[in-house]
Amino acid sequence: MTTWYCTNCNYKMEQDESPENCSNCLAHAKLILNMAEGIPANPEDVRDSARKKLKGLCAAYPLCDGNFDKVCQKEAYGKPIGFGGAGQGTSFKNNVQSLMNLRLKMRVTGEHTEPDTSIDFLGIKLDFPIMGSSTAGIEKYNDAMPEKDFCRAVIRGCKEAGTIGWRGDTWFYTPENNPALEVLKEEKGAGIPIFKPRSQDVLKRLINMAEAAGCPAVGIDLDGCGSTIMAKHGQPVFRKSAKDIKELVKFTTLPFITKGIMAIEDAEVCAEAGVKVISISNHGGRVLDSTPGVAEVLPEIASSLKGRVVITADGGVRTGYDVLKMIALGADAVLLGRDIIRASVGAGSLGVQLHMEHIGKVFKKAMFMTGQTTVNEITGNVLC
Ligand SMILES: Cc1cc2nc3c(=O)[nH]c(=O)nc-3n(C[C@H](O)[C@H](O)[C@H](O)COP(=O)(O)O)c2cc1C
Repeated sequence: MTTWYCTNCNYKMEQDESPENCSNCLAHAKLILNMAEGIPANPEDVRDSARKKLKGLCAAYPLCDGNFDKVCQKEAYGKPIGFGGAGQGTSFKNNVQSLMNLRLKMRVTGEHTEPDTSIDFLGIKLDFPIMGSSTAGIEKYNDAMPEKDFCRAVIRGCKEAGTIGWRGDTWFYTPENNPALEVLKEEKGAGIPIFKPRSQDVLKRLINMAEAAGCPAVGIDLDGCGSTIMAKHGQPVFRKSAKDIKELVKFTTLPFITKGIMAIEDAEVCAEAGVKVISISNHGGRVLDSTPGVAEVLPEIASSLKGRVVITADGGVRTGYDVLKMIALGADAVLLGRDIIRASVGAGSLGVQLHMEHIGKVFKKAMFMTGQTTVNEITGNVLC
């Protein structure tokens, strides 16, 4: 008799032949492991597993920077974007490079106190200021895992780690068939859906569904407005005016998030429209080549809007040290994109949990070694 382990719900099954689905949560066979072969115990085990499943798309390199020597970027001409960045990948690279260019000031005198990494995000207590970013479409990457299992892995894994996952939107999601909203409903709203900037009417339907699922917030990725694949599949996306954004903010009782802000002018429009969370992001460098890195634009936007809105940042954040840097530059919280996709593909919700906990642990160490005791007190002084 073989013991099988579901990485999405931690359920163990005893049977000879490999299960087609988890008998507890129905997760696909791809998320079920033979216990005799070992269960991932750390983020590196998870990455090893992801590397195999994402062969040809992403090699889960120790340095995920969108450089030409990486499989996601080097053969990109005329091919789907996969895990890479738009064009020559400069925006993707700038995200990583701009964080690498920053230096932390080590501080080792003073009281010996344990850093408190927790934050309050829209009234939700998070164990650390790190969330799973909105991503979607993973089912189409090497058939890595069914989309619904992917959504579940991010939502559950983040929750188990003491944080919250955001969910994305893509061309094969519709209001009628929406893996993210289905999972959010099943998980009692334990995540935040970010919709593509679809027509106002469709967005209102989706927002109503998010409210009914019990989600704590809802939003749109404004930088999804250039997606041609959405229109190709009969789901057009649009640039949104100040009036459109205000209309959506007023439409919902939930805090509203706009993601994909890289310019102070856009940030001001959103803040004036009543948006609660401004998510500084260039979509991991996937929507426009040659933008600065997120860490380059964050200080200007944060210095003008800090306190008026909640600010999140994502793009190139790979370590707990990067998290500290983004917070030092003015972010209230940080999101992980590609790393969370790899973690879910590698080992479902267990993979996401292991990865999140690891980044949280290193962030705590980074706070300790720079003399920070609470997240709120972190300023640009930790940089040198
Ligand atoms: C494969 C893939 C799919 C993504 N899908 C979405 C999405 O549906 N909605 C969204 O707002 N952002 C999406 N993003 C962008 C992420 O939310 C995030 O902004 C970005 O990945 C952060 O950069 P990082 O990957 O370097 O951490 C996607 C990113 C990747 C790599």
